[in-house]
Amino acid sequence: MSNNSLVSISDYSKDEILEILESAADFELNPNRKTLHGKVIATLFFEPSTRTRLSFETAVVRLGGSIIGFSDVTTSSSVKGETLNDTIHMVSCYADAIVMRHPLEGAARFASEISPVPIINAGDGSNQHPSQTLLDLYSIFKTQATLENLNICLVGDLKYGRTVHSLIMAMSHFHPTFHFIAPDELKVPDEYKVFCKRNNIKFKESSELHDNFNDADILYMTRVQKERFQDMMEYERVKNVYTLKNNMLENTKSNMRILHPLPRVTEIDPDVDSNEKAYYFKQAQNGLYVRQAILSKVLVSK
Ligand code: CP
Repeated sequence: MSNNSLVSISDYSKDEILEILESAADFELNPNRKTLHGKVIATLFFEPSTRTRLSFETAVVRLGGSIIGFSDVTTSSSVKGETLNDTIHMVSCYADAIVMRHPLEGAARFASEISPVPIINAGDGSNQHPSQTLLDLYSIFKTQATLENLNICLVGDLKYGRTVHSLIMAMSHFHPTFHFIAPDELKVPDEYKVFCKRNNIKFKESSELHDNFNDADILYMTRVQKERFQDMMEYERVKNVYTLKNNMLENTKSNMRILHPLPRVTEIDPDVDSNEKAYYFKQAQNGLYVRQAILSKVLVSK
Protein backbone atom coordinates (compact mmCIF):
# COMPACT_ATOMS: atom_id res chain seq x y z
CA MET A 1 0.00 0.00 0.00
CA SER A 2 1.24 3.50 -0.88
CA ASN A 3 0.48 6.36 1.52
CA ASN A 4 1.21 9.02 -1.09
CA SER A 5 -2.18 8.78 -2.76
CA LEU A 6 -4.68 11.60 -3.36
CA VAL A 7 -8.12 10.06 -2.87
CA SER A 8 -10.10 12.77 -1.08
CA ILE A 9 -9.42 16.49 -0.81
CA SER A 10 -9.34 15.91 2.95
CA ASP A 11 -6.12 13.89 2.41
CA TYR A 12 -4.37 17.27 2.02
CA SER A 13 -3.94 19.77 4.85
CA LYS A 14 -4.47 23.49 4.27
CA ASP A 15 -0.69 23.89 3.96
CA GLU A 16 -0.49 21.11 1.36
CA ILE A 17 -3.33 22.70 -0.64
CA LEU A 18 -1.53 26.06 -0.63
CA GLU A 19 1.72 24.31 -1.59
CA ILE A 20 -0.04 22.81 -4.66
CA LEU A 21 -1.40 26.23 -5.68
CA GLU A 22 2.05 27.79 -5.38
CA SER A 23 3.59 24.96 -7.38
CA ALA A 24 0.85 25.28 -10.05
CA ALA A 25 1.70 28.97 -10.46
CA ASP A 26 5.32 27.93 -11.10
CA PHE A 27 4.22 25.38 -13.70
CA GLU A 28 2.04 27.98 -15.39
CA LEU A 29 5.17 30.08 -15.91
CA ASN A 30 7.19 27.11 -17.14
CA PRO A 31 5.17 23.96 -17.95
CA ASN A 32 7.93 22.12 -19.81
CA ARG A 33 10.27 20.33 -17.42
CA LYS A 34 11.67 16.82 -17.30
CA THR A 35 11.06 15.98 -13.66
CA LEU A 36 9.10 12.80 -14.47
CA HIS A 37 11.74 11.45 -16.88
CA GLY A 38 11.75 7.65 -16.60
CA LYS A 39 8.40 7.52 -14.77
CA VAL A 40 5.37 5.69 -16.16
CA ILE A 41 1.90 6.91 -15.20
CA ALA A 42 -1.20 4.81 -15.85
CA THR A 43 -4.52 6.51 -16.57
CA LEU A 44 -7.39 4.08 -15.96
CA PHE A 45 -10.70 5.66 -16.95
CA PHE A 46 -13.64 3.37 -16.21
CA GLU A 47 -15.89 6.39 -17.02
CA PRO A 48 -15.70 8.94 -19.86
CA SER A 49 -13.56 12.06 -19.53
CA THR A 50 -12.16 14.81 -21.71
CA ARG A 51 -10.47 17.36 -19.45
CA THR A 52 -9.28 15.26 -16.54
CA ARG A 53 -7.65 12.52 -18.58
CA LEU A 54 -6.20 14.76 -21.27
CA SER A 55 -4.85 17.33 -18.82
CA PHE A 56 -3.26 14.63 -16.66
CA GLU A 57 -1.75 13.06 -19.77
CA THR A 58 -0.53 16.43 -21.05
CA ALA A 59 0.95 17.11 -17.63
CA VAL A 60 2.88 13.82 -17.75
CA VAL A 61 4.12 14.46 -21.30
CA ARG A 62 5.23 18.03 -20.48
CA LEU A 63 7.11 16.66 -17.46
CA GLY A 64 8.92 14.06 -19.57
CA GLY A 65 7.09 10.97 -18.28
CA SER A 66 5.26 8.24 -20.20
CA ILE A 67 1.60 7.21 -20.25
CA ILE A 68 -0.09 3.81 -20.33
CA GLY A 69 -3.73 2.99 -19.71
CA PHE A 70 -7.20 3.00 -21.18
CA SER A 71 -9.87 5.61 -21.81
CA ASP A 72 -12.52 3.11 -22.84
CA VAL A 73 -13.19 0.40 -20.30
CA THR A 74 -14.55 -1.92 -23.00
CA THR A 75 -10.97 -2.34 -24.25
CA SER A 76 -9.78 -3.55 -20.83
CA SER A 77 -10.09 -6.99 -19.27
CA SER A 78 -12.74 -5.65 -16.89
CA VAL A 79 -15.26 -6.71 -19.53
CA LYS A 80 -13.99 -10.29 -19.15
CA GLY A 81 -14.79 -10.09 -15.44
CA GLU A 82 -11.42 -9.03 -14.00
CA THR A 83 -11.89 -7.44 -10.59
CA LEU A 84 -10.69 -3.94 -9.68
CA ASN A 85 -8.41 -5.61 -7.13
CA ASP A 86 -6.65 -7.62 -9.85
CA THR A 87 -6.52 -4.71 -12.29
CA ILE A 88 -4.81 -2.49 -9.71
CA HIS A 89 -2.36 -5.26 -8.75
CA MET A 90 -1.43 -5.76 -12.39
CA VAL A 91 -1.13 -2.10 -13.39
CA SER A 92 0.98 -1.34 -10.32
CA CYS A 93 3.52 -3.83 -11.73
CA TYR A 94 3.94 -1.55 -14.75
CA ALA A 95 3.39 2.02 -13.53
CA ASP A 96 4.82 4.36 -10.88
CA ALA A 97 1.42 5.95 -10.20
CA ILE A 98 -2.19 5.34 -11.24
CA VAL A 99 -4.73 8.05 -12.11
CA MET A 100 -8.14 6.40 -11.90
CA ARG A 101 -11.76 7.40 -12.58
CA HIS A 102 -14.42 4.92 -11.53
CA PRO A 103 -18.22 5.02 -11.22
CA LEU A 104 -18.27 3.48 -7.73
CA GLU A 105 -17.94 5.73 -4.69
CA GLY A 106 -15.02 4.46 -2.63
CA ALA A 107 -13.29 2.71 -5.55
CA ALA A 108 -10.28 5.04 -5.35
CA ARG A 109 -9.96 4.55 -1.59
CA PHE A 110 -10.12 0.77 -2.07
CA ALA A 111 -7.46 0.97 -4.81
CA SER A 112 -5.20 3.09 -2.57
CA GLU A 113 -5.44 0.50 0.19
CA ILE A 114 -4.20 -2.35 -2.00
CA SER A 115 -1.86 -0.53 -4.37
CA PRO A 116 1.90 -0.36 -3.81
CA VAL A 117 2.01 2.77 -6.01
CA PRO A 118 0.13 6.05 -5.42
CA ILE A 119 -3.47 6.36 -6.60
CA ILE A 120 -4.78 9.73 -7.78
CA ASN A 121 -8.56 9.83 -7.71
CA ALA A 122 -9.86 11.33 -10.96
CA GLY A 123 -13.46 11.02 -9.72
CA ASP A 124 -15.29 8.21 -7.90
CA GLY A 125 -19.03 8.23 -8.52
CA SER A 126 -20.74 11.13 -6.75
CA ASN A 127 -18.15 11.19 -4.01
CA GLN A 128 -14.93 13.13 -4.68
CA HIS A 129 -12.90 14.76 -7.46
CA PRO A 130 -9.91 16.21 -5.59
CA SER A 131 -7.75 17.25 -8.56
CA GLN A 132 -10.74 19.21 -9.93
CA THR A 133 -11.09 20.89 -6.56
CA LEU A 134 -7.45 21.91 -6.52
CA LEU A 135 -7.82 23.47 -9.96
CA ASP A 136 -11.05 25.15 -8.80
CA LEU A 137 -9.16 26.63 -5.83
CA TYR A 138 -6.36 27.77 -8.12
CA SER A 139 -8.94 29.43 -10.39
CA ILE A 140 -10.70 31.08 -7.45
CA PHE A 141 -7.40 32.39 -6.12
CA LYS A 142 -6.33 33.69 -9.52
CA THR A 143 -9.57 35.57 -10.06
CA GLN A 144 -10.20 36.86 -6.52
CA ALA A 145 -6.58 37.23 -5.27
CA THR A 146 -7.65 35.42 -2.08
CA LEU A 147 -9.44 32.29 -0.95
CA GLU A 148 -10.66 33.88 2.28
CA ASN A 149 -14.19 35.07 3.15
CA LEU A 150 -15.73 34.61 -0.29
CA ASN A 151 -19.41 34.28 -1.21
CA ILE A 152 -19.67 31.16 -3.29
CA CYS A 153 -22.88 30.25 -5.06
CA LEU A 154 -23.11 26.58 -6.04
CA VAL A 155 -25.80 25.89 -8.63
CA GLY A 156 -27.36 22.83 -10.22
CA ASP A 157 -26.85 19.20 -9.32
CA LEU A 158 -25.59 19.50 -5.76
CA LYS A 159 -26.71 15.94 -4.97
CA TYR A 160 -24.62 13.96 -7.43
CA GLY A 161 -21.96 16.56 -8.33
CA ARG A 162 -18.69 15.26 -6.89
CA THR A 163 -16.87 18.50 -7.67
CA VAL A 164 -19.33 20.33 -5.41
CA HIS A 165 -18.76 17.88 -2.56
CA SER A 166 -14.96 18.17 -2.76
CA LEU A 167 -15.12 21.97 -3.05
CA ILE A 168 -17.30 22.36 0.05
CA MET A 169 -14.75 20.35 2.04
CA ALA A 170 -11.73 22.21 0.65
CA MET A 171 -13.20 25.68 1.23
CA SER A 172 -13.72 24.84 4.92
CA HIS A 173 -10.14 26.10 5.47
CA PHE A 174 -11.02 29.56 4.13
CA HIS A 175 -14.21 30.83 5.87
CA PRO A 176 -16.59 30.86 2.89
CA THR A 177 -20.29 31.66 2.82
CA PHE A 178 -22.14 29.23 0.57
CA HIS A 179 -25.40 29.69 -1.27
CA PHE A 180 -26.68 26.34 -2.48
CA ILE A 181 -29.13 26.70 -5.40
CA ALA A 182 -30.75 23.47 -6.52
CA PRO A 183 -34.18 21.99 -7.17
CA ASP A 184 -35.56 19.83 -4.35
CA GLU A 185 -34.54 16.64 -6.19
CA LEU A 186 -30.88 17.73 -6.37
CA LYS A 187 -30.28 19.47 -3.06
CA VAL A 188 -26.91 19.17 -1.39
CA PRO A 189 -26.89 15.97 0.75
CA ASP A 190 -27.40 16.37 4.50
CA GLU A 191 -23.88 15.13 5.28
CA TYR A 192 -22.41 18.27 3.63
CA LYS A 193 -24.78 20.55 5.54
CA VAL A 194 -23.73 18.80 8.76
CA PHE A 195 -20.11 19.28 7.67
CA CYS A 196 -20.75 23.02 7.18
CA LYS A 197 -22.39 23.36 10.59
CA ARG A 198 -19.55 21.51 12.32
CA ASN A 199 -17.01 23.78 10.61
CA ASN A 200 -18.95 27.01 11.30
CA ILE A 201 -19.52 27.61 7.60
CA LYS A 202 -22.48 29.86 6.85
CA PHE A 203 -24.82 28.62 4.14
CA LYS A 204 -28.30 29.16 2.77
CA GLU A 205 -30.39 27.21 0.28
CA SER A 206 -32.67 28.33 -2.56
CA SER A 207 -34.37 26.73 -5.51
CA GLU A 208 -34.60 29.84 -7.73
CA LEU A 209 -31.60 30.94 -9.79
CA HIS A 210 -32.72 34.31 -11.11
CA ASP A 211 -31.46 37.34 -9.09
CA ASN A 212 -30.15 35.02 -6.40
CA PHE A 213 -26.42 35.39 -7.04
CA ASN A 214 -25.88 39.16 -7.18
CA ASP A 215 -23.71 39.09 -4.03
CA ALA A 216 -21.58 36.14 -5.24
CA ASP A 217 -17.82 36.34 -5.80
CA ILE A 218 -17.90 32.95 -7.50
CA LEU A 219 -20.87 31.48 -9.36
CA TYR A 220 -20.13 27.76 -9.66
CA MET A 221 -22.47 26.16 -12.21
CA THR A 222 -22.81 22.39 -12.57
CA ARG A 223 -24.32 19.92 -15.01
CA VAL A 224 -27.20 17.65 -14.02
CA GLN A 225 -25.37 14.32 -13.76
CA LYS A 226 -27.50 12.14 -16.04
CA GLU A 227 -25.30 9.09 -15.49
CA ARG A 228 -26.09 8.98 -11.74
CA PHE A 229 -29.91 8.84 -12.04
CA GLN A 230 -31.72 5.56 -11.35
CA ASP A 231 -34.96 7.01 -12.68
CA MET A 232 -34.68 8.60 -16.15
CA MET A 233 -38.13 10.19 -15.76
CA GLU A 234 -36.73 12.18 -12.84
CA TYR A 235 -33.73 13.22 -14.97
CA GLU A 236 -36.10 14.41 -17.71
CA ARG A 237 -37.98 16.55 -15.15
CA VAL A 238 -34.85 18.34 -13.86
CA LYS A 239 -32.39 18.26 -16.75
CA ASN A 240 -33.06 21.84 -17.90
CA VAL A 241 -33.85 23.29 -14.50
CA TYR A 242 -31.47 26.27 -14.83
CA THR A 243 -29.93 28.03 -17.80
CA LEU A 244 -27.62 30.96 -17.05
CA LYS A 245 -27.95 33.69 -19.69
CA ASN A 246 -25.96 36.84 -20.32
CA ASN A 247 -28.78 39.19 -19.35
CA MET A 248 -28.91 37.58 -15.88
CA LEU A 249 -25.39 38.88 -15.09
CA GLU A 250 -26.11 42.61 -15.24
CA ASN A 251 -26.41 43.18 -11.49
CA THR A 252 -23.60 40.88 -10.43
CA LYS A 253 -20.36 42.06 -8.81
CA SER A 254 -17.79 43.38 -11.27
CA ASN A 255 -15.18 40.87 -10.10
CA MET A 256 -17.58 37.91 -9.98
CA ARG A 257 -16.42 34.96 -12.07
CA ILE A 258 -18.40 32.01 -13.41
CA LEU A 259 -16.82 28.61 -12.93
CA HIS A 260 -18.03 25.25 -14.21
CA PRO A 261 -16.10 21.95 -14.04
CA LEU A 262 -17.43 21.15 -17.54
CA PRO A 263 -18.75 19.51 -19.62
CA ARG A 264 -21.80 21.78 -19.80
CA VAL A 265 -25.05 20.83 -21.45
CA THR A 266 -27.78 23.48 -21.17
CA GLU A 267 -26.92 25.14 -17.84
CA ILE A 268 -24.84 27.96 -19.36
CA ASP A 269 -26.09 29.53 -22.56
CA PRO A 270 -23.28 29.99 -25.11
CA ASP A 271 -24.08 33.72 -25.09
CA VAL A 272 -22.32 33.88 -21.71
CA ASP A 273 -19.01 32.64 -23.17
CA SER A 274 -17.94 36.05 -24.41
CA ASN A 275 -18.79 37.78 -21.11
CA GLU A 276 -15.62 38.72 -19.18
CA LYS A 277 -17.15 37.01 -16.14
CA ALA A 278 -17.04 33.61 -17.89
CA TYR A 279 -13.93 31.82 -16.61
CA TYR A 280 -14.73 28.13 -17.22
CA PHE A 281 -12.47 27.52 -20.22
CA LYS A 282 -9.53 29.20 -18.50
CA GLN A 283 -10.43 27.13 -15.42
CA ALA A 284 -10.02 23.94 -17.47
CA GLN A 285 -6.67 25.18 -18.77
CA ASN A 286 -5.57 25.78 -15.18
CA GLY A 287 -6.11 22.06 -14.67
CA LEU A 288 -2.93 21.32 -16.59
CA TYR A 289 -0.72 23.31 -14.20
CA VAL A 290 -2.47 22.01 -11.11
CA ARG A 291 -2.14 18.42 -12.29
CA GLN A 292 1.55 18.98 -12.97
CA ALA A 293 1.82 20.15 -9.36
CA ILE A 294 -0.10 17.11 -8.08
CA LEU A 295 2.01 14.62 -10.07
CA SER A 296 5.18 16.31 -8.84
CA LYS A 297 4.06 16.15 -5.22
CA VAL A 298 3.02 12.51 -5.55
CA LEU A 299 6.03 11.28 -7.53
CA VAL A 300 8.97 13.66 -7.17
CA SER A 301 8.91 14.96 -3.63
CA LYS A 302 8.46 11.65 -1.83
N1 CP B 1 -14.39 18.34 -15.08
C1 CP B 1 -14.23 17.07 -15.52
O1 CP B 1 -14.03 16.14 -14.71
O2 CP B 1 -14.31 16.92 -16.86
P1 CP B 1 -14.15 15.55 -17.65
O3 CP B 1 -15.31 14.67 -17.24
O4 CP B 1 -14.17 15.91 -19.09
O5 CP B 1 -12.85 14.93 -17.21
